[in-house]
Amino acid sequence: MRVLITGAGGQLGKCLQDSFKESGHEVIAAGRSELDITNSRSVEGFVLAHEPDVIVNAAAYTAVDKAEAEPDLAFKVNAEAVANLAAAVNKIGAFLIHVSTDYVFDGSSTRPYREIDSVNPMGVYGKSKLAGEREAEKANRYVIVRAAWIFSEYGSNFLKTMVRLAGERDSLAIVNDQIGTPTYAGDLASALRVLAEKPPVNGTYHFSGGHHCSWYGFAQEIFQACGDLKADFQFPVVNPIPTSEFPTPAKRPAFSVLDGSLLEARVGIREGSWADSLRDVCSKVLEADDSAQK
Ligand SMILES: NC(=O)c1ccc[n+]([C@@H]2O[C@H](COP(=O)([O-])OP(=O)(O)OC[C@H]3O[C@@H](n4cnc5c(N)ncnc54)[C@H](OP(=O)(O)O)[C@@H]3O)[C@@H](O)[C@H]2O)c1
Repeated sequence: MRVLITGAGGQLGKCLQDSFKESGHEVIAAGRSELDITNSRSVEGFVLAHEPDVIVNAAAYTAVDKAEAEPDLAFKVNAEAVANLAAAVNKIGAFLIHVSTDYVFDGSSTRPYREIDSVNPMGVYGKSKLAGEREAEKANRYVIVRAAWIFSEYGSNFLKTMVRLAGERDSLAIVNDQIGTPTYAGDLASALRVLAEKPPVNGTYHFSGGHHCSWYGFAQEIFQACGDLKADFQFPVVNPIPTSEFPTPAKRPAFSVLDGSLLEARVGIREGSWADSLRDVCSKVLEADDSAQK
């Protein structure tokens, strides 16, 4: 199978490259410099030239807070550009796998969100991603996969920020009233590869990483894993705080846990297990930090 990965330089994009290559697929990895998905002419030309069987769109505007000040750009990348991809796959009969977010929900639910639940994004990022879902649905063959709280050894993410801050500060205040599910980008990439190999009926599916927690709980598990891996790891004191004490430009859902049972029932893909990947990712991040300091 020939797979085009857009946003190939991002954390999911890199894990997708690893996963598809390991499974023997032909990968066309297009970072932003190879393919700017907001340019409709470039998208059409690139897709016609390479004729992929599947396009996995890992490109996105992901700066949740900055999006509040840059709504036009967020919508351009997260929605208008998805229309370009949908039009291109329709031209060649390819299959579009598009990635969306738990931030399409407002967090008022008291049980994990199912695909049929009402959406109501709280900020520009979530709104632009929801608009992107509507564009992806215009592809003749598509799936949309909503994921949450993605971390990996690549790019920027909460885990890497925590490891960096542990080296800089004695104490940290972390929000403990936002609940979600960390998801290892490698687990998500494997799930998307299986979807590319066995496309289910068109639709939206949820995939996340296992048990849910707060950002505070996630931070504690990250530091525990780092402490287990590195004898001289400096544990910061971690203080739980409410969101009201950590105001951010974008509002975030208080509860954005995704129910992944539909994907398991339809395709046999079980949710990931972030706790199993945590040690491995922390080990790679600590190693990279050590070599950067040498
Ligand atoms: N991160 C999370 O916690 C999270 C949670 C739920 C869902 N998601 C979704 O998961 C997907 C992957 O996220 P991620 O964490 O891997 O994001 P990421 O690391 O920020 O990667 C996004 C990539 O998209 C690229 N990009 C931005 N604008 C582009 C354009 N116009 N054309 C082509 N490429 C462009 C970026 O390039 P530059 O680096 O050059 O900007 C970056 O390499 C996204 O759809 C995101 O909305 C993420």
